[in-house]
Amino acid sequence: MKLGRLNHIGIATPSIADSIAFYRDVMGATKIHAPFDLSDQGVKVCFVDTPTDSSGLGGMNGTQIELIEPLPGNASIAAFLEKNPAGGQHHVCYEVPDIHAAKAWFEGQGKRVLGAPRIGAHGTLIFFVHPRDMQGVLTEIMETPQGH
Ligand code: CO
Repeated sequence: MKLGRLNHIGIATPSIADSIAFYRDVMGATKIHAPFDLSDQGVKVCFVDTPTDSSGLGGMNGTQIELIEPLPGNASIAAFLEKNPAGGQHHVCYEVPDIHAAKAWFEGQGKRVLGAPRIGAHGTLIFFVHPRDMQGVLTEIMETPQGH
């Protein structure tokens, strides 16, 4: 398993509009992307960039916050918000160079991979690993986007 950079931290929210205002006005975010629907996964998504470290050496360079709001009919994020009405940290996402090799690795370790690799919010293949097998953290594994 070749661990790549921390691509993003997923945060569930009952309102992306309210969360955008929070990240802009309270946290000082200056680069907030346009929200879009990821209909396949029943969510609306909005990425907020954290600044690139000017040294270029930081391991956190350009890590994003992924705001996630359930679309009508979504079950899993809606259930999460029932337990966490104000929203909360939902998952972390690490990049890997080869999504299929990573899936085989986690399965070989006895970790429960949730479904087949599918196209995620960045347009590359992703899968999730069950939080109970991942130290309590729902973990998204994502193939590194081209150009990174
Ligand atoms: Co994600």
